[in-house]
Amino acid sequence: AALRTHRIAVIPGDGIGREVVPEGLRVLEAAGRRFGFTLACTEYDWSCDRYLKTGAMMPEDGLDRLAEADAIFLGAVGWPGVPDHVSLWGLLIPIRRGFDQYANIRPCRLMPGARTPLAGRAPGDIDFIVVRENTEGEYSSSGGRMFAGTEREFVTQQSVFTRIGCDRIIDYAFRLAMTRPRRKVTSATKSNGITFTMPYWDERFAEAAKRHPGVATDQFHIDILCAHFVQHPDWFDVVVASNLFGDILSDLGPAVAGSIGIAPSANINPERKHPSMFEPVHGSAPDIAGKGIANPIGQIWSGALMLEHLGETAAAAAIVSAIETVLEHGPRTRDLGGQAGSAEVGRAIAELVAEGA
Ligand code: NAI
Ligand code: MG
Repeated sequence: AALRTHRIAVIPGDGIGREVVPEGLRVLEAAGRRFGFTLACTEYDWSCDRYLKTGAMMPEDGLDRLAEADAIFLGAVGWPGVPDHVSLWGLLIPIRRGFDQYANIRPCRLMPGARTPLAGRAPGDIDFIVVRENTEGEYSSSGGRMFAGTEREFVTQQSVFTRIGCDRIIDYAFRLAMTRPRRKVTSATKSNGITFTMPYWDERFAEAAKRHPGVATDQFHIDILCAHFVQHPDWFDVVVASNLFGDILSDLGPAVAGSIGIAPSANINPERKHPSMFEPVHGSAPDIAGKGIANPIGQIWSGALMLEHLGETAAAAAIVSAIETVLEHGPRTRDLGGQAGSAEVGRAIAELVAEGA
């Protein structure tokens, strides 16, 4: 039988992105050999380096080129000397918006051997996923400034909550919960203080709950929800939130679950009209770049999310299990108290995936 082939656009980006992406690919290739698929990778050098040489993070037809891929595997983007808003708006935002990647997913799971800043928490106590709306809500470009520089100066910025936008992200969260043993969705709201958009969000959430009677639900205002993430992380399974609240929760969640070096994320277009993008939560880490010591696990785990999206479920599970084994028994990078380099950790995970241990 012919091997299944997945077309992957690879963008290592800047800094440690270039050191962890090769480890991610090493593990993905090992998984392909064992589970019977191949990856047809096309690498793009789009980065701050490219910006400094050519004046653009990516070529003008960049999105057209990526559109041909089944998925995008990205390292990190950003480097001193290029303002962060330039690198963000020149590459990441056009991809996320252009490909309508409206579901931003961050698994938050306390892994064996990872160190949570919370006292008295063991692996198994923290295992939830933050689902953030990624295209509308509070981050709109509707608003403005009037009477600039005068006493009457004022600014406004309008939140935009569409029925389509709310329903599609909330339904995505419910469908995701159906694939997990606990089958629970928590909604982040603030309908006590924000009196039009948030009651509407609650209304759409209640409607979605009716469409998914097999899923348990609850909801919290964003302020107490942040406190619960810290005090009761075991309460949560899938947490769905608007763009702003999701932005906050999707940094807080991985933080309570341990090192930034292991946290993965996905930017998904659930309808699969466009490719989805998979990248670690961390950035380019200029302070440790070039030394070969970055933790590659966030990148490798993002690769597992990519395989899950591509339908390679068994391969994805094998990678996550190999990550767990290596976190528990080593080798470990310095951020987790070890001495190993990126490649040593990448090789150890690839070997476990290849062996089926
Ligand atoms: P960062 O995540 O790059 O680094 C924060 C701290 O965590 C640093 O001390 C770093 O050494 C450490 N760290 C990060 N990843 C690690 C890993 N894999 N292994 C071991 N230690 C790790 O965030 P920072 O410093 O705020 O941003 C640096 C650059 O990255 C900026 O230009 C920023 O805009 C960009 N950035 C890009 C992101 C992306 O591509 N999605 C996300 C976050 C930041
Ligand atoms: Mg953020």
